[in-house]
Amino acid sequence: VNWTAQDWERLAELRERFLEADAQSDTPEAGLAPSDWRSARDLALYDATFAQRIGWKWDAVFRELRLRGGLGSPAAAAPGVVVVDWGCGTGIAARRYLASAPSPPARLHLWDRSAAARAFAAECVRAEQPSLANEAGLAIETGPLPADLAPGCLLASHVLGELGPGELDELLALARRSEQVLLVEPGSRSASRRLSTVREELRGEFEVVAPCTHQAACGMLAPEQSTNWCHFFARPPSEVFQDAHWARFSRALGIDLRSLPYSFLALRRQPSSAPSSSPPGSATAGGGVRILGRPRILKGHALLDACDATGVRELALLQRLDRGLFRRLEDSAGEVVVLSLEVEGKRIRSVRNL
Ligand SMILES: C[S@@+](CC[C@H](N)C(=O)[O-])C[C@H]1O[C@@H](n2cnc3c(N)ncnc32)[C@H](O)[C@@H]1O
Repeated sequence: VNWTAQDWERLAELRERFLEADAQSDTPEAGLAPSDWRSARDLALYDATFAQRIGWKWDAVFRELRLRGGLGSPAAAAPGVVVVDWGCGTGIAARRYLASAPSPPARLHLWDRSAAARAFAAECVRAEQPSLANEAGLAIETGPLPADLAPGCLLASHVLGELGPGELDELLALARRSEQVLLVEPGSRSASRRLSTVREELRGEFEVVAPCTHQAACGMLAPEQSTNWCHFFARPPSEVFQDAHWARFSRALGIDLRSLPYSFLALRRQPSSAPSSSPPGSATAGGGVRILGRPRILKGHALLDACDATGVRELALLQRLDRGLFRRLEDSAGEVVVLSLEVEGKRIRSVRNL
């Protein structure tokens, strides 16, 4: 892509509108439509920049799911299974899914209210996965979603902030017909808290696989956590920091390339025959405490936001208790920190990595 001054201006404009949507959708009159793609150029610019960054968030989510023995792809491997990327934009969620999935789905449905986005996303999938598209017979669909469609896996990314209540209901109804649901959103307070609300809507019917270590109510929705939010930081590929194009992107848009905050939710349908091993309200088999956000590093100790079935609380970890863990917490981007803890008051007495 050869970039003109207008391209950078347009990117800045798009970013402004995403931020506006994110901030305003905290209020009841949500339902802005900020990403009305004006042209294929818009989509190409977005895909080369914001979508790549979103792709690194998806990579972090897939890595966590692998590390924590997460979803695997049993649903995706079953014959005839369809994966849906809802609000696909340039299809980055589907593309990262296909790059990570141990076995490909039979069908991929790329859905967006913008026909230009759907066509662009399908082109990108074909270009990135020529053998899947041509030889393995992956069917790529971009038409309206059939009313009774029951996806093996539903992907949706950076879209909740654009939805009015009716549209959110439409997405939730599709989620309720899905085997697995993976949602990735920005790491802002408003986006993350929206995701916590979606978790509350769906957790009765699904097992929460990640980021939570439990099936209880989201601790971030407790009144005492109203200024806090569940989020994480992904680590961009190291090449990005040597790349002149990304340096320009960072300067032009005032974006710190090192900071890639995101929030996410991974759900799996509870098997209807076998009762869940982890009913709502209990800790999962894995259990443990998930460390959220960025620890606050102070002299000789760190303050951590720790989440488990009892809620979210701030705990203190002395550096000398576990120097290796302390180092991981100092630069926590890309770290999946799930711990088994013994705690006295606020202080961690003993710690074990899970
Ligand atoms: C910020 S973009 C994100 C695109 C992509 N999911 C990603 O992560 O890069 C939001 C996308 O959602 C689409 N969208 C917004 N509301 C929608 C709706 N009600 N139904 C389908 N698509 C929608 C927009 O057209 C846009 O392409």
